[in-house]
Amino acid sequence: MDSFYRPVVITGNWKMYKTIEEAQSFVSQLIPVIEGSDVEVCLAVPFTAIYPLAQEVQQTSLMIGAQNMNDASEGAFTGEIAGKMLKEAGASFVLLGHSERRRLYHEDNAFINRKVRRAVEVGLRPVLCVGETLQEYEAGETRQVIQAQLTECLKDLTAEQLKSLIIAYEPVWAIGSGYSATPEIAQGVQSFCRQVMAEQFSSELAEQLVIQYGGSVNPSNAKELLSQPDIDGLLIGGASLSLESFIQIVNDSKSKIQSQG
Ligand code: PGA
Repeated sequence: MDSFYRPVVITGNWKMYKTIEEAQSFVSQLIPVIEGSDVEVCLAVPFTAIYPLAQEVQQTSLMIGAQNMNDASEGAFTGEIAGKMLKEAGASFVLLGHSERRRLYHEDNAFINRKVRRAVEVGLRPVLCVGETLQEYEAGETRQVIQAQLTECLKDLTAEQLKSLIIAYEPVWAIGSGYSATPEIAQGVQSFCRQVMAEQFSSELAEQLVIQYGGSVNPSNAKELLSQPDIDGLLIGGASLSLESFIQIVNDSKSKIQSQG
């Protein structure tokens, strides 16, 4: 396992921040910085910014994606957006099951499962977010919760269909709180995720699977988190809104590739 190379994937989750103009200004300054870098850099942006940014990044390695989508292919669902529309607009990936969606918009594992299946069908890379609440953490239920989320959200999918999947482990108590999980805690859960994926699908899929950590990642903890063997990348909310801190995290993550080299 130690000689196996997994890409390092750093994703910014902008949530409901940035107008098209702000997004374009950010991206035009980011592009020259990541040119030629081996780190895969992705931005999950508001729907309105997907098309203009996708146009802007065409000749670059920067990936643009969405933060949510509906499970249906189309239909009378006022205010919703279909995977094929995101794909057409230039999105290459989509965040699914983010805890803010689960908590504020009552998304459950069955609904998220239908979204993952639809994303795979339309050719969007699914980034499945999993994580336990503070209450579950304190009750010692983390593994149970994560196992249920992985099993139910990935139900009826095959290893072949999940080749492009990314899993983001985001403990709910760490999101936006300023209290990141320690590298050891995150490593423990992420290695458990890999084990569940091996049992549920195949050891080959589990071994190549990119697993990100998310929750209060910032320039002062990114490097240490990434030094763990099962932390292949980061999903960054607040710190991805500032160009300076996002660039610093991307630059710091190069050390993981160097250590693998
Ligand atoms: P945070 O958010 O980095 O602001 O904690 C992470 C996320 O919600 O994906």
